[in-house]
Amino acid sequence: MYTNKTILITGGTDGIGRSLVLQYLDLGANVVTCGRDQQKILALEAEAPIGKLCVLNADVSSERDCERSVSHAVKLFGGIDVLINNAGISMRGLMEEGGAGIVPVIKKVMDVNFNGVLYCTTYALPYLIKSKGAIVGISSIAGYRGLPGRSGYSASKFALQGFLEAIKTELVEKGVHVMWVSPGFTASNIRNVALNHKGEKQGESPLKESQLMDADTCAKIIIDAVEKRKRTVVMTFQGKQTVFLNKFFPSLADKLVRKFFFKNGNLVK
Ligand SMILES: NC(=O)c1ccc[n+]([C@@H]2O[C@H](COP(=O)([O-])OP(=O)(O)OC[C@H]3O[C@@H](n4cnc5c(N)ncnc54)[C@H](OP(=O)(O)O)[C@@H]3O)[C@@H](O)[C@H]2O)c1
Repeated sequence: MYTNKTILITGGTDGIGRSLVLQYLDLGANVVTCGRDQQKILALEAEAPIGKLCVLNADVSSERDCERSVSHAVKLFGGIDVLINNAGISMRGLMEEGGAGIVPVIKKVMDVNFNGVLYCTTYALPYLIKSKGAIVGISSIAGYRGLPGRSGYSASKFALQGFLEAIKTELVEKGVHVMWVSPGFTASNIRNVALNHKGEKQGESPLKESQLMDADTCAKIIIDAVEKRKRTVVMTFQGKQTVFLNKFFPSLADKLVRKFFFKNGNLVK
């Protein structure tokens, strides 16, 4: 069912995006993806069958790069069937320790995690209407529940969900499926390169990455959900519990989230 289907996945050179790229290629789809690191681009290209994958050096926070990624997909493969807005960065910094310095950090996170979705969706939309395809946003539990130290990241994922929910309703009669999926903590590079309150990469993960869901499992769940045209997916027991508690018992969620992220008044996760 994936023969002659084209999937455009942003940020497919590492983590969840890379697993999505490789699994869609295994299923027989044509894949176009992007990232900024040339070494990772070459490593991914080396794993793909000839003629099925195009990896662009493109930054989703650049509107021109997003337009270029879409036009490459259309020129090479004739259209787009699924757009997966996956590229994302994170942050870890408290507002009070960042002062004015945290403003550019949060703007950068918004530029990648929200504006990137806006640009790619805008340019891909005519082709997705033509194919009656699907638009997918990779959100997070932080798209349902603001997480301490991740104020900008949470804002970007709330924005992503609000945007996609709005256009989902706009596109009902066009046959375009719009959905967002929220992985729980998944082992990847995202926490190593998350920006601290000064805008520097933190260079380590505060979580035990080996105990988290792996990126291949996460990608498999996403592909299955897109195929079944699900509305949303929330992953992991901890993720589902957080979303449920926050909806029905928000004060309890406040206490539990605080307890998870802080020890003796310090942000430890
Ligand atoms: N891992 C988790 O625990 C988790 C949980 C919930 C949601 N998510 C979401 O899942 C998505 C993927 O995250 P991940 O964990 O797989 O992260 P990751 O391992 O850091 O991979 C991110 C990918 O996006 C690319 N990327 C980053 N910034 C980009 C930009 N400006 N333009 C183009 N590509 C860019 C990266 O390549 P370059 O750096 O080379 O550009 C890389 O290929 C993100 O939206 C994230 O918010 C992750």
